Amino acid sequence: MPDKLFGEMIAILDFGSQYNQLIARRVRESKVYCEFFPFNITPSRLVNLNPKGIILSGGPASVAQKGAPFPHGKILELGIPVLGICYGMQLLAWLLGGEVAPAKKREYGKSELFVGEDEDLFYGLKSPLIAWMSHGDRVAKLPSGFEVIARTENCPVASMRDKKRRFYGVQFHPEVAHTPQGKKMIENFLFKICECSPQWTMSSFVDYSLERIRNKVGNQKVICGLSGGVDSSVTAVLIDRAIGDRLGCVFVNNGLLRQGEVEEVINTFTRHFHLNLHYVEAEERFLSKLAGISDPERKRKVIGEEFIGVFGEEARKVGKVEFLAQGTLYPDVIESRSAKGGPSATIKSHHNVGGLPSDLHFKLLEPLKDLFKDEVRILAKQLGLPEKILNRQPFPGPGLAVRIIGEVTRPRLQILREADTIVTAEMQKYEKFPEIWQSFALLLPIKSVGVMGDERTYEYTVALRIVTSLDGMTADWARVPDDLLERISHRIINEVKGVNRVVYDISSKPPSTIEWE
Ligand code: XMP
Repeated sequence: MPDKLFGEMIAILDFGSQYNQLIARRVRESKVYCEFFPFNITPSRLVNLNPKGIILSGGPASVAQKGAPFPHGKILELGIPVLGICYGMQLLAWLLGGEVAPAKKREYGKSELFVGEDEDLFYGLKSPLIAWMSHGDRVAKLPSGFEVIARTENCPVASMRDKKRRFYGVQFHPEVAHTPQGKKMIENFLFKICECSPQWTMSSFVDYSLERIRNKVGNQKVICGLSGGVDSSVTAVLIDRAIGDRLGCVFVNNGLLRQGEVEEVINTFTRHFHLNLHYVEAEERFLSKLAGISDPERKRKVIGEEFIGVFGEEARKVGKVEFLAQGTLYPDVIESRSAKGGPSATIKSHHNVGGLPSDLHFKLLEPLKDLFKDEVRILAKQLGLPEKILNRQPFPGPGLAVRIIGEVTRPRLQILREADTIVTAEMQKYEKFPEIWQSFALLLPIKSVGVMGDERTYEYTVALRIVTSLDGMTADWARVPDDLLERISHRIINEVKGVNRVVYDISSKPPSTIEWE
């Protein structure tokens, strides 16, 4: 099984915490490979994966509640070290004969953590520490073999261990930035308890991926949707490296792209990369399907279905194609998982995962599905992709459709394209542009009164979304200089017909999202 190529890996069992991806990030930053698995993974599959350690993630459930997600009990009999985080620790306690009860006082936020010994999980750390708590339940009675190794004022069992079996539990979240020494605790679990060695790097990931792609595809053909964004470009280049001309790339003009994008993508990928690129002109097809639709989720579903339809037709032209490759990233997988009945809450249906029809005839090939955005950028560099592509801001699959609030029409697309071109041009002149995660315009379905010359106007409003972020999971509105905002606003109102007002979105994610739909 190619699963074992890395030699050392940590298996994270997913119980649906919103912080889950951070656990994976911390582990990988420590140069240890890890992957998420369904919480009910079978013990035999785990044995086959041969992980050096298991992390039971947090999650929104309560162990005592009906239908709460439980791992297979036998995974605790495999002799593999376990770290249970929050709900994961409660599971450990519950499954091993301890007691879990609702906390007297729900603990949320920063707490002072008093640690007993400066060893194993807390090696090298000085008590008291700061820990981020977010829980309603607590361990009321330790299972036999366990001892308390840290507490907070409200939580007598903030951390517990069974040193002999190498089982550890923390009631707080070591993976979040609000637990400043959390990374060290995770490293301690990896290196002191699981005895991992820090070996995982992006170049090893490339070898691993090539091997994995070759194993999966055999001598069949793959079709890949190329949008020109970092994700699909890396996907295409990686697969091209693995299987060469058995990869056909399809670039669909869905009518929802930005100004000049079609020409740019065609140029880059035929001239620079010499990929086998099929260009599909499908503007009319997408826009007619979107007519009359305002609901964000409907838009995403319609676009997703149409994409798959177009691919199917292209694939048939190419001959027998088994696989559809997509640049799905880890955050897309997590955010869409609940649509398939997983334990997290649904936020948005990302077209490249959630909108796939069930009668899909392709098998999916998603070589980036375990990576975060910044990891993909490192991978892009490793693969020799040019800076221009490497530093491209993310652009959603459903394109400008999710940046036009309300119905998508050609005149509205025209207005948004013109406004967005101005935003991009002005932002690129800003000295801190490389620190910006995304900067774009949105068209709101709101008309308001203005005055231009001596005349009353009644026109649309453009919103500016400029955010900083590390991975798109959390984001903050960017504090850009006033004169930059002024220039953008002035130019849009003066140059774009149909707009008389520009507003700046000052919401962070969470509780907002980056895209408005
Ligand atoms: P949200 O709006 O959920 O976006 O805060 C997080 C990041 O994901 C991008 N995004 C998408 N990317 N397909 C994609 O490939 C999509 O359907 C999609 N929707 C949002 C968004 O631009 C941001 O970077």
